[in-house]
Amino acid sequence: MTWCWSSSPRPNRDPEANAQPERFDPLRRERQAYTFGLSAHACPGELLATTIAEIGVQRLLAAGVRPEALVDRVRYRPSGNTRVPLF
Ligand code: HEM
Repeated sequence: MTWCWSSSPRPNRDPEANAQPERFDPLRRERQAYTFGLSAHACPGELLATTIAEIGVQRLLAAGVRPEALVDRVRYRPSGNTRVPLF
């Protein structure tokens, strides 16, 4: 397993980069995402990571998980840097 750590998720939440950044909108147009870094040291694992995530979400949806039903049930560990769900 390869662990990569982004020191801060804040650039993705910059309103100058993404209007209304706190609004969850998976279909957002003109999205600017810095999750995988930029330029020379940008993450070479981006395609692999997003493909794994996409397949995982497809499997959950196929299994009948309804994301909207989880919104009020999932709690997150307090953190300024990342969003880790509590199970
Ligand atoms: C959700 C999953 C992942 C996230 C959010 C992520 C994020 C990042 C970020 C932010 C960087 C630093 C970019 C910079 O310094 O500007 C990075 C670097 C890197 N990542 Fe990932 N990564 C992920 C998955 C992966 C995977 C699956 C691999 C390999 C199979 C990988 C391999 C690397 C490597 C080798 C670097 C160093 C690149 C360099 O310094 O030139 N990452 N990643």
